[in-house]
Amino acid sequence: MNAFELPDHAASARAAAIAASDASPAETPSTPSVLFVDQSGQPGGAELCLLPLAARCVSHSEVLLLSDGPFRARLEALGVRVQVSSHARVVAIRRDNLRLGWLKAIPGIIGQIRVIAARARRFDVLFLNTQKALVLGALGKPLHRRPVVWHVHDVMTRDHFGPLQLQIVRWLARHAIDQFVANSSATANALIALTGLPADAVTVIHNGVDASAFTPVDTGDLRALRRRLGLPETAWLAGLFGRLAPWKGQHVAIAALPRLPHVHLVLVGAALFGEDAYAHALERQAEQLGVRERVHFAGLRDDIPAWMTAMNLILHTSTEPEPFGRVIIEGMAAARPVVAAAAGGMLEIVRHRQNGWLVQPGDADALVEAIETLRVMPELAQRLADQGCADVRADFSLERYLEQMTRVIHHAKRQD
Ligand code: UDP
Ligand code: GLC
Repeated sequence: MNAFELPDHAASARAAAIAASDASPAETPSTPSVLFVDQSGQPGGAELCLLPLAARCVSHSEVLLLSDGPFRARLEALGVRVQVSSHARVVAIRRDNLRLGWLKAIPGIIGQIRVIAARARRFDVLFLNTQKALVLGALGKPLHRRPVVWHVHDVMTRDHFGPLQLQIVRWLARHAIDQFVANSSATANALIALTGLPADAVTVIHNGVDASAFTPVDTGDLRALRRRLGLPETAWLAGLFGRLAPWKGQHVAIAALPRLPHVHLVLVGAALFGEDAYAHALERQAEQLGVRERVHFAGLRDDIPAWMTAMNLILHTSTEPEPFGRVIIEGMAAARPVVAAAAGGMLEIVRHRQNGWLVQPGDADALVEAIETLRVMPELAQRLADQGCADVRADFSLERYLEQMTRVIHHAKRQD
């Protein structure tokens, strides 16, 4: 076993225990009604993870967004009922400015707590999908008295969060949450370390994808596809998908490019949460390194299966532990070889040189070696891609994810 092969079977065993604990929850009159709350109008990974669940619960649920944006239309297109309740001062509170600024937002915070509680009283279960949703929804528990599920999408450590925020989460976790679902064992372990919760209090449920939506095109169509997407038709393309943000490490991929003269880098995603300065810094970095013509900024896209299929390889370069990393299971579903940063949830998805390739986070030299190896050894790349595709269908299916999540919601209602 090499240093990257660190499977955590305990977590999957925990999730499996919940999965096996009772009969399959069919849609019956006793199906719990759910209010899902998410702070973002932008379609980030946590929101895209919620999307199919809200759609699955469409007849007896509603999504309350604390900020408007294109995510609303994505939900509504699937028939999901959506309410938006946004307060400018609360929207302005950010992880990185959580000092005294939030005091000005107190009236807004109280208002939002009341709005969520009033809405939650009409449902059996309150499902909180993001950090602000957690705080505002859980603090209102004395008002709504509904069982609260928190879907934890973040690794709750000092790498990402300030001490005050961690304190608040620690308190709420002990006093106001009935069910915890973590998107990976990495996320669960950080939460357990922070809160002192018993290990079996947190259910690990990995994200799932609909692999059939990622069916690869044949090579004949590949050039036409690239033409349609405005990509160079014959270049060797490495695709890096995700919002532009320093911890997502797009700069590491650009730093590797001068030593990869045959490779173009396609950055699919935008600065969703105000990281515009980083987006500009990436362009400057590419210019300074003389690789600007080989870096393609594609912006935010909806048709991810097509974009993934157009690539020769899918990269993941986060410099901090990735809580889960949907982009990598999507890349595998698209039958593309993947190279991922070996930390967090990636260690639960990628097995080095078996279904993908792991490199140390932030290590541009290792990235060069991985990409070049897979470029010059297409048989190896194909073998990893085939195994990755099979693994996603077996272990990260959308059906499995939805079944496990609906079980948690049923459990929460029964705890009431
Ligand atoms: N994504 C997208 N459009 C883009 C770039 C990314 O829809 O232009 C999607 C991507 O397919 C994935 C999600 O955004 O489903 C990112 O999720 P991930 O878990 O990888 O990272 P997060 O941004 O949530 O940290
Ligand atoms: C978060 C995490 C990401 C994860 C997604 C879905 O946005 O950053 O790693 O894949 O949630 O759970």
